[in-house]
This record gives sequence, structure tokens and C-alpha cells, in this order.
Amino acid sequence: SIHKVVFSGIQPTGIAHLGNYLGALRQWVTLQNESDPSTTLIYSLVDLHAITLRQPPAQLRQWKRESLAMLLAIGLDPKRSTIFHQSTVPAHAELMWILSCQASTGYLGRMTQWKDKTSGEKEGSEKLKLGLFSYPVLQAADVLVHGATHVPVGEDQAQHLEFAREVARGFNHVYGDGRVALVEPETIISSAKRVMSLTDPEAKMSKSHPNPKSRILLTDSAEEIRSKINTAVTDSITGVSYDPVQRPGVSNLVDILYHCTQGAGFEDQAALAKDLDGSSLRAVKRRVSDAVESQLRPIRERYQEIINNAQLLDDASTQGTQKATISANATLAKVKQAIGL
Ligand code: ADP
Ligand code: NA
Repeated sequence: SIHKVVFSGIQPTGIAHLGNYLGALRQWVTLQNESDPSTTLIYSLVDLHAITLRQPPAQLRQWKRESLAMLLAIGLDPKRSTIFHQSTVPAHAELMWILSCQASTGYLGRMTQWKDKTSGEKEGSEKLKLGLFSYPVLQAADVLVHGATHVPVGEDQAQHLEFAREVARGFNHVYGDGRVALVEPETIISSAKRVMSLTDPEAKMSKSHPNPKSRILLTDSAEEIRSKINTAVTDSITGVSYDPVQRPGVSNLVDILYHCTQGAGFEDQAALAKDLDGSSLRAVKRRVSDAVESQLRPIRERYQEIINNAQLLDDASTQGTQKATISANATLAKVKQAIGL
């Protein structure tokens, strides 16, 4: 069996939300705490991805620091896991260029995220930036440069991981010389595949949604959590049932309750919804708020301790960059050798 390498990333574009946590970050911690000690764990704050949309520099610097503090607050241990800012390891961007010479523009153009982000813009528009088009190549480089075997992400990233495998296969076909140069990673999707927006439950919860009430941040107070859940959009159908297509708002609340209570002793969300049926919507929302608050309180408290500890943050960041540089440079050297660079 091959050496297991876990890699994943999150954009430092604001405090992580409940969707990031249930869909991805919680798994990062579980993998850290439950993997065999021989497993390598690498988690990146992908700041080069954050600039595909323009960010005020001071804001970005603050977000990078807050996001690092958050990764420590959720329980990642910099001694066990490699935690680093992507831009401090240039091999990521360098491999991206090499893979760009291999990746197909047709494939990139068919990606749903590109289509979503550009809908409404004319082809050839000055507003459409090259980085927004090609960032899946950078994501592929992020994963492949560490020889990742397993990548825990939310469902929205599954298509990009398929692309990364395709890029690896293409590279190995051209340059592999019979030996595998780039490892094709496996995607690990959490059971909480997709947490939806509280104000617009047809869309996923996201850092970039203009309405701050659409997401619960991992630093929200108990009162903020309660207020956001209370104003969450539901529907006018009586009772509680689990039907994400017909009843996205109610089903999202059931999902959140289910995942924040590790299933609450029920086999699935439909069984939990059946148990809730008969309670008032008010009572249901109260249970959801309580469950979210129990999940997030310890994270919020640790975050408040860590965010002002400059020494701890600087040490974690330096240590992460050193370890990630060694890992990434090893792959990049092999790739350059194979190409003739
Ligand atoms: P965002 O989309 O909010 O900017 P990122 O792109 O930084 O967040 O994603 C970080 C991780 O969180 C990825 O693994 C992504 O799949 C996951 N994720 C993001 N939003 C959600 C969501 N609403 N539900 C589940 N997982 C999510
Ligand atoms: Na995303």
C-alpha cells in the first residue's frame, strides 16, 4: 500500500462558515485525530486563490491571520498537520504553469464554477480575468505538488478534483516514461455534502454571499446564531418533512441539526424530520440553534484565545511553510527532471 497523503485547502477570504466546517474542516480534524501516524496531513490557506477576485490588501492580510487562527481553533495541531499559506511555497505556482501547458481550455470552459461565475458576462469581456478561468489548474497543482492520495472537500469541489486526476493522467502519459510521476488523488466527500444558504436555500452557504444573515460564522455568538436561524427562510407547508427539492429551507435546517448532533441517534435525515414533525417551527429552530451553538462554542472560545497570540500564529506559520516547502519541492524536482527543465 502507498503512503497516505491528505491535502486540502480553504481560501482566506473571511471567517469560515458552518458550510466550510461541516462540509470540509471538521473532516480535516477527524483525519488528523484518527489517521495512522504514518499518514501525512497538509492543509493550506490558499491565498493565491483568494486573489482571483480583487481583495483590499489590508483586508487580505487580516483574513490570512484570522484563517490561520481558525484552523488552530478547530483543533488542527501544527506539530501533526502541516498548515501553511500557499503563497509562501512557490512550487505551487510553478507547477501550475507547467500543468497549464498540459491542461485543455475546452475542459476548463465546461466547468460549472466557471459557467456560474461568468453567467451574465459577454465572452471576451474585459471583466473576465484569466485567473478566474484557470484556477482549477492551480488547484490541481496544489494537490499534485504534494503527491496527495486523499483530498477531503465539499461536493462543490468534486468536479475540480476530477480535473486534477485528468491533468495528472495527461502528464504521466506524456512524461511518465512508464513510472508514475504524479499521483491521481481520491476525493473524500463529507456526509454533509452541501450546507445551503439560510436566506436563499437554493444556493450553497458561501463566504461571498452579499447577505451576512445567509451564513453562520464559526465566531458567531449564541445570540447571532439564534437570530440567523430564526430568520432562516422556510416555506408555508405545515409540519416538518425532509425533501431537499420541494422544501430546501426546512430540509437544510434538518440537515444542520442532523450533522451538528452526529445524527442525533437517527438513521437518516428523513427519520429525524419525522420525529420533529408535530413540533412548531419555532421549537425546531430552537433545537437547531442549540445544536449549532454546542458545536461552535468551543471553537469560538479557542479562537478568541489564539487570535491575539502573535507568537503562536507566527511559529505555526513558519513551521508549516518549512514542512510544505520540503514536500512540494520534492515533487517539483521530479517533474522538472521528467520534462527536461
Ligand atoms: P467558500 O465557497 O465559502 O468561499 P472555499 O471555496 O474556501 O469556501 O471552500 C473551502 C472548503 O469548504 C471546500 O472544501 C468547499 O468544498 C467547502 N465548502 C464551501 N462551501 C460549502 C457548503 N456550503 N457546504 C459544504 N461544503 C462547503
Ligand atoms: Na468554494
